Amino acid sequence: MRLVSIEMLQPEMKIARAVYNQGTLVLPEGRGNVAKYIPNLRNMGIEYVYVEDDKSQGIEIPDAIAERTRTSCKRILQNTIEQFSFTDKLETKELEACVNSVITEILNTPDIQVSLNDIASNDEYTYTHSVSTMVYSLMIARKLNYNKQKLTILGMGTLLHDIGKMLIDRDIMFKEGDLTRQEYEYVKMHSLYGYQTLRRIASLPEAARLIAYMHHERLDGSGYPQGLVADELNEYIRIVSIADVYDALTTDRCYRKKWPANKAMDFLVERSGKEFDPVLVGIFTQQLAVYPNGSLVRLSNGYYGIVSKQNRSMPLRPFVRVVQDPRGEDIIPYELDLMKELSVTITESELEINRNKPSVSPDEL
Ligand SMILES: [Fe+2]
Ligand SMILES: [Fe+2]
Repeated sequence: MRLVSIEMLQPEMKIARAVYNQGTLVLPEGRGNVAKYIPNLRNMGIEYVYVEDDKSQGIEIPDAIAERTRTSCKRILQNTIEQFSFTDKLETKELEACVNSVITEILNTPDIQVSLNDIASNDEYTYTHSVSTMVYSLMIARKLNYNKQKLTILGMGTLLHDIGKMLIDRDIMFKEGDLTRQEYEYVKMHSLYGYQTLRRIASLPEAARLIAYMHHERLDGSGYPQGLVADELNEYIRIVSIADVYDALTTDRCYRKKWPANKAMDFLVERSGKEFDPVLVGIFTQQLAVYPNGSLVRLSNGYYGIVSKQNRSMPLRPFVRVVQDPRGEDIIPYELDLMKELSVTITESELEINRNKPSVSPDEL
């Protein structure tokens, strides 16, 4: 399996992970001849898909939880929030069940370096992002040996952290291009709106509600809404702020292209000790693949390859399946273990993703 930009779709490629839009299956796993769906995918805001082809045969892209668990959590969250907007009642039973199943899976997954980034259409972004933020947060928490109760608080809070966005005007929320100062201040209100919404659920612990309220706070006081500092931010908030930013950066948005994993990790590391808790950034990044399996990279010898396996002890030197020569011509693929070939390094990562250079200022909301 590998991740390709929709422009790179070839007739022999088959969809390796189903594509959904607004809860509806658009492309099922195994569907071939997909180039004809490119305009449709673009309309939905989907620029990348996971495919299976000869070049990527046998390459696995590890995720922290099963695909069906992710999909069902997204559906449950979507249904819960839609129902809430009609009936004004927020039912949390099903959400709790989904948080519990994610916790169980994460606690039972062996220590892996996660490579998978969930793909979201514009309409599904908030649901996909909420589930991913929960999964990343729980990955950090399991290393801190949280008990079941703390994991549940963190899981519920992270799953609902952006619920306030449903009260923000859609045209501004999904605006292509930069927000005006005023619009930005307005969108920032989603954390307060989220907290106010969650206060109406009596069964939800206050600590979970505060995750919605404070997830944009930063250790150095540069965050919002209150500009709190260091000891005013409990560990839940320190965790979610890292998970939230990482997922936002590595996902395609209407106003900018997704960042490659290594760039998003650099972003966190550069700001660790300032905006983010350095210990938690360390715990998190150790569980992520710097160069995700299935991504196209350029090597220092000019050849191109697909990352095929991680080297746990040397995250910068995975196995690469070399597939093209320096002129971009296909060659008979061969595997290169960069831990053994020390003269070769990766010089460019997630090439198809870099096709349109990402913008430099990520005002993550
Ligand atoms: Fe978020
Ligand atoms: Fe947010």
